[in-house]
Amino acid sequence: MIRFNNSKTSKNKKLLIIISDLIRKIFGGDRVKRLSLVMIKISKDIYKKDKKKMNILDFGCGSMEISKKLEKLSCVKKIVGVDTFSGKFKTKKMRYIKYDDFFKKNKKNFDLIIAVDVLHHIGVDKSHKTLKKLSKYSNNIIIKDHFEYGYFSRQLLRFVDFYANYAYDVNIPKKYFNDVSWKKTIKKSNLKEIKLIKSFQQHDGLFNFILDKKHHFVSHLKK
Ligand SMILES: C[S@@+](CC[C@H](N)C(=O)[O-])C[C@H]1O[C@@H](n2cnc3c(N)ncnc32)[C@H](O)[C@@H]1O
Repeated sequence: MIRFNNSKTSKNKKLLIIISDLIRKIFGGDRVKRLSLVMIKISKDIYKKDKKKMNILDFGCGSMEISKKLEKLSCVKKIVGVDTFSGKFKTKKMRYIKYDDFFKKNKKNFDLIIAVDVLHHIGVDKSHKTLKKLSKYSNNIIIKDHFEYGYFSRQLLRFVDFYANYAYDVNIPKKYFNDVSWKKTIKKSNLKEIKLIKSFQQHDGLFNFILDKKHHFVSHLKK
C-alpha cells in the first residue's frame, strides 16, 4: 500500500515494502482481489436499486487500491479518497483529499462510503464517532474490519497489522472488535446493520492459513 507521495519514505522502508509485497504475491497475501470483488458486488446492488450513477467515498483510502478497481465500473461516477496523509492524486474519476480538508469543506453526499481496515486503526472505542460523522454524508456505509477471539487471535491480528503497516507509520491497535463491541459501536453510531458477512475470506494460501476468514468481517450499515 504505497502512498501516492512516497518521496519521503526512506530507502530501507521502500526495500521492506518491495520484499513484503513479493512475499504477499507468492504466499496468497493479495488482499485487494477479494476485497474489491465484494465492494464491486455491493456497489452493483446499490446501483440496481437506485438506478443512478454512483459517487463513492473511500474513507481511510491508503493508496486507493480498492477504488482503482471500483472506478472501472460504468455505474461509478466519481470516487473521493480521504486519509490522514498529505498527497496529491487525481484521475478522471478519482481524487484524494486530506482528512482535515474533507471535514472542513465537503458539502457533497455520497451514494456509498467504504472504510476498509480503517476503524481498528482509529480505535475500537472511538469508531462510533467516525461512523456518526460519516453517516451525515451517506445512507450506505460498508465497513470491512477484523474480529478478535481472545488473547491469541488479538496478538495474531496485531502481528499481521504490524507486518502490513509498519512501513507506513500507521498505528497498531491494542485491541480489535468482537461481536459485542461491534454491536455496541453500531448502536452508539445510531446506525442499523442490514447485512453482516461474519467470516470473509480475504486471503489465499499461507496468508489464509495464518489468519483465517473468521478474523475478517464485512458489514453494510444504514441510517
Ligand atoms: C490498513 S490501511 C487500509 C487502506 C485502504 N483502505 C485499503 O484497504 O487498502 C488503513 C488506513 O487507514 C488510515 N487511517 C488511520 N486512521 C485514520 C483516521 N483517523 N481517519 C482516516 N483514515 C485513517 C491510514 O492512514 C491507512 O491508510
